[in-house]
Amino acid sequence: RLLIIDFGSQVTQLIARRLRELNVYCEIHPYQKVTDAFLTDFAPQAIIFSGGPDSVTREGSPRPPKSAFTLGVPILGICYGQQVMMQELGGLVESGHGTAEFGRAYVTPTARALPLLEGWFEDGREQVWMSHGDHVSRIAPGFEVYGTSPGAPFAITADPARHFYAVQFHPEVHHTPKGAKLYENFVRLAGFTGDWTMAGYREQAIAKIREQVGDKKVICGLSGGVDSSVAAVLIHEAIGDNLTCVFVDHGLLRKGEAEEVVTMFRDHYNMRLIAADESALFLGALEGVSDPEVKRKTIGRLFIDVFQNYANQIEGAEFLAQGTLYPDVIESVSFSGGPSVTIKSHHNVGGLPEKMGLKLVEPLRELFKDEVRALGRELGLPAKFIGRHPFPGPGLAIRCPGEITREKLAILREADAVYIDQIRKHGLYDEIWQAFVAILPVRTVGVMGDGRTYDYACALRAVTSVDGMTADYYPFSHEFLGETATRIINEVKGINRVTYDITSKPPGTIEWE
Ligand code: XMP
Repeated sequence: RLLIIDFGSQVTQLIARRLRELNVYCEIHPYQKVTDAFLTDFAPQAIIFSGGPDSVTREGSPRPPKSAFTLGVPILGICYGQQVMMQELGGLVESGHGTAEFGRAYVTPTARALPLLEGWFEDGREQVWMSHGDHVSRIAPGFEVYGTSPGAPFAITADPARHFYAVQFHPEVHHTPKGAKLYENFVRLAGFTGDWTMAGYREQAIAKIREQVGDKKVICGLSGGVDSSVAAVLIHEAIGDNLTCVFVDHGLLRKGEAEEVVTMFRDHYNMRLIAADESALFLGALEGVSDPEVKRKTIGRLFIDVFQNYANQIEGAEFLAQGTLYPDVIESVSFSGGPSVTIKSHHNVGGLPEKMGLKLVEPLRELFKDEVRALGRELGLPAKFIGRHPFPGPGLAIRCPGEITREKLAILREADAVYIDQIRKHGLYDEIWQAFVAILPVRTVGVMGDGRTYDYACALRAVTSVDGMTADYYPFSHEFLGETATRIINEVKGINRVTYDITSKPPGTIEWE
């Protein structure tokens, strides 16, 4: 496996993505954690130093452990990673006047050939993406220059005998078109054969779960989402009936959702499943509540209580399974650190394991979202299920601004089902990141047939996004919007007006509350 030492670049995760695409298994670890002992233990087959925001000229700036250079494994340094490598190996890095370079640049080759650059410079030069304040002004002994740019005379440097490579630009980003080729060459030089596959991961993960859990019992909270579902199916393969899943229906799910989950996990996968209909409890507690934060907190608190009650009934359980993904793990060690404003209190059960005295099983900790989907396919989960849009923990509560009533929820469920059906029928589902209906806390006057109506208005939402952090509204055609509005008004009793929400995020958020 390959080790990426993270010096805090915004794009370190992309390095991992590029490597996984090459079927090479890698892990990112923050530089603070990577000590000599860590390196010995990890035994990497190759190492990559990421970029980072600091300056190597500053005393106390991040460094790799010295032993990284004596392990005898190939190393690739990127940006800050290049500079730190030069500095540690006897070169010189400077900051100040005219050394900064940001954005697109072109690298041209020097006379020497380098296996790392196979497939490069076919057109005489190569576009790369630069983003650096400092620059290398003298390369370390043993190194030669293999590529230069106007702002970086040492854009590509290497000591091929030791398999040390160092580049000033970012090969992992999209704007370095041949970046993937450079990574491919690097892992080939490091002896990786690209044999890391989902089938292999599945076997590995199952063995690991068995080793961690032994013959002890595991509880898994199923939400109906992809992550917890894939985690549950995987753990079930590993330990069978020693896994019990708990599915809490808080009365805020979409049409048919609860039945779908129960059918799939209990009937199809034959899992032990406690399906708890707690809608009366949740909807009772939400009566008269219209403040979004109070809604979120009420649901979060009740969810933990309810889950805990059911979990306590499972005798001898020692582990709690969670569908934690790799980006969650990395974020928690990120460099951002500072206090940020709470826009919305997110629904999560983070504190639960300690409270219940349970140990964690997190079989997806090493995977990215699309890898979880691939694992889900590998495990035979239906394609329609795996490709589902995200659905928030507080469910329809936050799509029903104002007071929540059973009547409004019923109308919302029907309208949402028609809307999603429309999107699927028009083949747009996979182009859209998330789509849903919000029912507005307002009735408006309309006319149907020859009669007056006085019913709810609703808003359709559909966004494109990569990670939910920013989003843009989806540009439906007017025909689609018109047809959908007509269908909703004709088919859903209780709605007589349909609007389309064209707010991006920011300034809006994806959900209405
Ligand atoms: P916002 O509305 O903040 O949503 O732009 C961004 C993404 O997060 C989802 N979301 C949640 N997911 N628990 C979740 O698991 C929550 O409490 C929650 N609130 C919002 C939202 O659906 C969107 O995908």
